[in-house]
Amino acid sequence: MPATLPIRMLVETDVDAFCDHLATQDDVWIRNREMPYGPYSASTPPDRAARRAKTLERWAKPLDVTGWRRSWGLLDGAACVGVVTLIGGDLDASLHRVMLGLGVEPPHRRQGHGRRLMHVAIDWARAEPTIDWIDLGVFRGNDGAFALYRDLGFREIGRTTDCFRVDGWRIETISMTLHVGAAADRPGK
Ligand SMILES: CC(C)(COP(=O)(O)OP(=O)(O)OC[C@H]1O[C@@H](n2cnc3c(N)ncnc32)[C@H](O)[C@@H]1OP(=O)(O)O)[C@@H](O)C(=O)NCCC(=O)NCCS
Repeated sequence: MPATLPIRMLVETDVDAFCDHLATQDDVWIRNREMPYGPYSASTPPDRAARRAKTLERWAKPLDVTGWRRSWGLLDGAACVGVVTLIGGDLDASLHRVMLGLGVEPPHRRQGHGRRLMHVAIDWARAEPTIDWIDLGVFRGNDGAFALYRDLGFREIGRTTDCFRVDGWRIETISMTLHVGAAADRPGK
């Protein structure tokens, strides 16, 4: 039985491995003609140099500044073969909520790595006093990811019909949330 691949928070020197991983994930669904799992057209893949520069800028931001991001990589030697990313809010008023994105490359799927990545991100968020909620959106039809999130305690809070139009697909998104803060789950002061 091979040793389990390590997971750790990605730092500046990992940025190229991170961009390689995202490009691989983009290629997978373009080649397989799978339903997209991100709101981007196959004909206009994200620009690598722009993505690299933005990633470095966002990883460097402290948690009390809008637009911060933190990513954890599943590492196979020097290659990053899976990633979970937490995305800080775009408004000061929403910095207590983070969005989550997840991906594992096909040869490494169904081996428990997606679940391991999720646990690392959730545990980190729970330990951060400024973060109270993890939100995510999953496309209807992505049954594997939906099952994983539900199993980890994410609650479905709504669906948006025809949310994205990508390459002929009309995509319905399912919004899910997990409370990770100490404060009670209620509105008001
Ligand atoms: C979703 C994804 C990250 C899962 O990663 P993974 O490493 O294969 O997940 P795991 O092996 O940890 O599986 C965890 C659970 O997810 C569910 N699951 C994952 N893939 C599944 C599939 N193809 N069919 C059914 N259930 C699946 C199962 O409940 C599984 O638990 P089990 O193995 O005990 O049955 C991976 O399939 C992926 O990268 N997909 C493309 C990108 C994507 O869809 N990202 C999510 C966008 S919201």
